[in-house]
Amino acid sequence: MNKQWKLPNLKEAQKRTKTPVNIEHSLFDIPECCKEMGKGKNYFIRTYGCQANERDGETMAGIFEELGYTQTLDMVNADVIILNTCAVRENAEDKVFGEVGHIKHLKRTNPDLILGICGCMAQEEAMVEKIIKVYKQVDLVFGTHNIYRLPQLLYDTMKTKERMIEVYSKEGEVIENLPVRRFGLHKAWVNIMYGCDKFCTYCIVPYTRGKERSRLKEDVMKEIDELVASNYKEVTLLGQNVNAYGKDLGYENGFADLLESVAKTGIPRIRFVTSHPWDFTQEMIDVIAKYPNIMPYIHLPVQSGNTQVLKLMGRRYTIEEYKDLFNRIKTAIPHCAFTTDIIVGFPNETDEQFEDTLKIVDECQYDAAFTFIYSPREGTPAARMVDTTPYEVKEVRLKRLIEKVAFYANQNNQKYVGRIEKVLVDGPSKKNSEVYSGYTESQKLVNFTCDKSVQVGDIIEVEIIEAKSWTLTGKQV
Ligand code: 5AD
Ligand code: SF4
Repeated sequence: MNKQWKLPNLKEAQKRTKTPVNIEHSLFDIPECCKEMGKGKNYFIRTYGCQANERDGETMAGIFEELGYTQTLDMVNADVIILNTCAVRENAEDKVFGEVGHIKHLKRTNPDLILGICGCMAQEEAMVEKIIKVYKQVDLVFGTHNIYRLPQLLYDTMKTKERMIEVYSKEGEVIENLPVRRFGLHKAWVNIMYGCDKFCTYCIVPYTRGKERSRLKEDVMKEIDELVASNYKEVTLLGQNVNAYGKDLGYENGFADLLESVAKTGIPRIRFVTSHPWDFTQEMIDVIAKYPNIMPYIHLPVQSGNTQVLKLMGRRYTIEEYKDLFNRIKTAIPHCAFTTDIIVGFPNETDEQFEDTLKIVDECQYDAAFTFIYSPREGTPAARMVDTTPYEVKEVRLKRLIEKVAFYANQNNQKYVGRIEKVLVDGPSKKNSEVYSGYTESQKLVNFTCDKSVQVGDIIEVEIIEAKSWTLTGKQV
């Protein structure tokens, strides 16, 4: 084992201290040796997982471009490949190892190719051990807390031609001067906070992304003002739990206040993910209801419909409390669309407990739900629970749940037929370049026909003609 390596440590990652986090406005720097390092070279980044990871991918792209690299969308042409990974479930990890296997062939034809792995998997002890032992083709491993070190790490890997592993387990500073190359031209992700302190018993995120730490409001607003000035039409405020925004900085009404300030910039569309029901205050509901540019769409993960299971999951709410919150939002914003996340087969979930999950779907009639079979994550409390439910039973539950979710998705979408909706134009649809696609305010995907003069980033009125469970079809009015 190389002495210079810094390996992840889950115990270390679990620790939380009250020490305030430094907010650094000049920590990122390109060392002299790295300047122009990428001239004439290509980088390729593939991101897995959530929007926080997508946004990290944009930061890394920004760093690569400052080093002189050019983006390639085909990894065959790449001099550096970065797999920006997700650890939330085992199947996300399996996909990455599949890709790493495939890249081995590319290294035969291009021995100078550098393969880097970063993101949440890099924060996991067992994954890094596996990479060290099995996947010799991986040259560089770095974590979610030291992306700012990418120039130096890349330089060292190339120079020494040795594997480099540098993963910090303790969360780092909030770094404000990182570059960004945004992949969206009219829609942008904006981090408002990092990390998570909720420690739901099934979840690896508090270990891979460190403690909850908010960006200063003035730094968030500066980024938003720049986006408005560059004619961006939509911002999505990002955090593992946006409702907790500002608590660590001592802000009162942190997220409600921030939302209101962002709304006042006049940017046409504001979204935010993810909301934890625990921190969702009435002030937030009132602000969302008050401003028409805060979109009527809320992702409100329920995870289970049974209070006992919620307790074992460490979710901090009963199903009655969840329903009460859901109904208060629905009353204040009647046209609001809701999506959720649900886990089936949490250790020892009984048939009756699963029936409660079906019941909450009947009651909330979500527009969509992301549904998962529970996946044990090493180091989390749930992974230590003895689980007697057979996997086949969990698969049957998932199938039943998916059918119910699709039923309500379809029923909700049918209500759109005949309505005129405001749609933000993304561009030609994936399947047919004559047809355009975009999203309604309530985050419904619409495929539609329109004038030739319509441009990406326009907000146009579309009449909805047909509805399926996951898409609407329409024509420009
Ligand atoms: N197994 C299955 N699903 C999980 N999620 C988080 N951790 C796990 C796990 N160990 C789901 C939750 C979360 C979403 C992002 O992923 O539903 O809200
Ligand atoms: Fe995946 Fe969670 Fe990490 Fe996002 S924060 S990449 S969902 S493990």
